[in-house]
Amino acid sequence: MKTKPKLLKWAGSKSQVSDRISPYLSFDQVYIEPFCGSAFFFFDNSPSVSYLNDLNSDLISFFTHTRELPDEVWSYYDAIPVEEDAFYDARAKYNELSDCPEKAGHFVYLNHFCFNGLYRTNKAGQFNTPYGGRQKPKKKLSKNDFRQFSQALKPAHLTSKDFEDFLDQLKPDNACIYMDPPYFTNDERVFGEYGPNTFKNKDLERLFEVSLRLASRNKIVVSYKNCSEFSDIFQEYIVGDISVTRNVGGFAGRRKSEKELVAVLGG
Ligand SMILES: C[S@@+](CC[C@H](N)C(=O)[O-])C[C@H]1O[C@@H](n2cnc3c(N)ncnc32)[C@H](O)[C@@H]1O
Repeated sequence: MKTKPKLLKWAGSKSQVSDRISPYLSFDQVYIEPFCGSAFFFFDNSPSVSYLNDLNSDLISFFTHTRELPDEVWSYYDAIPVEEDAFYDARAKYNELSDCPEKAGHFVYLNHFCFNGLYRTNKAGQFNTPYGGRQKPKKKLSKNDFRQFSQALKPAHLTSKDFEDFLDQLKPDNACIYMDPPYFTNDERVFGEYGPNTFKNKDLERLFEVSLRLASRNKIVVSYKNCSEFSDIFQEYIVGDISVTRNVGGFAGRRKSEKELVAVLGG
């Protein structure tokens, strides 16, 4: 049986709707996620050749360090107690540390015990999601969970760039590319859901242009909020919709069901 390790909770992860999106994807060719987040489909399907990219460099560093040194990252994670004062001390330490296994251990600890697993930062890029440990007690993961995660990541190529730079440099050919960008929003309160460089309207246009350029030699699957900004641009490529339940900006009690559209180009 395939191991499906899951270390992260990530806003917008497709775990709940995987059976609706999977049929559009193919994992027996080169598999690419330019907005990988927790890389749900990668871990669920173990493609043999894959490229995972995300603009959030702390996320990609966490993947890289955990792949290379799972026991070390786990020991930093495991050493931090699950209680509020320890959480805020760990958050302050995380914001001081530069890239290293200790920071990766703090990254996963904060992801597990912050409010709703949100990676939210202030404008200076400092992680500032509050403690979420009172929501429900969570069990710490084991060293073995980290080892399985490390094993699963071995075949992946990992980078942290803007999606367009990443794809321009990679020049994919005969690949399946799953694009799962953040929702564009005008709501200032959700600023920073994925860090300071959130997705803007012009990025949606860039996404379309890049997708169109690559579609002659690759299959591109894009999922996005059902909104006029998306449907106007991708209109002729939309193949269906799916219902998703979202935490709106991570605010308590603001979960709602909404539709996402799926567009397919090329293939
Ligand atoms: C909806 S999440 C992806 C969720 C993912 N499918 C999963 O399984 O968890 C969108 C991701 O895009 C990343 N992102 C935002 N702007 C980006 C950009 N310009 N280029 C690449 N990644 C970006 C965010 O850091 C975030 O992790």
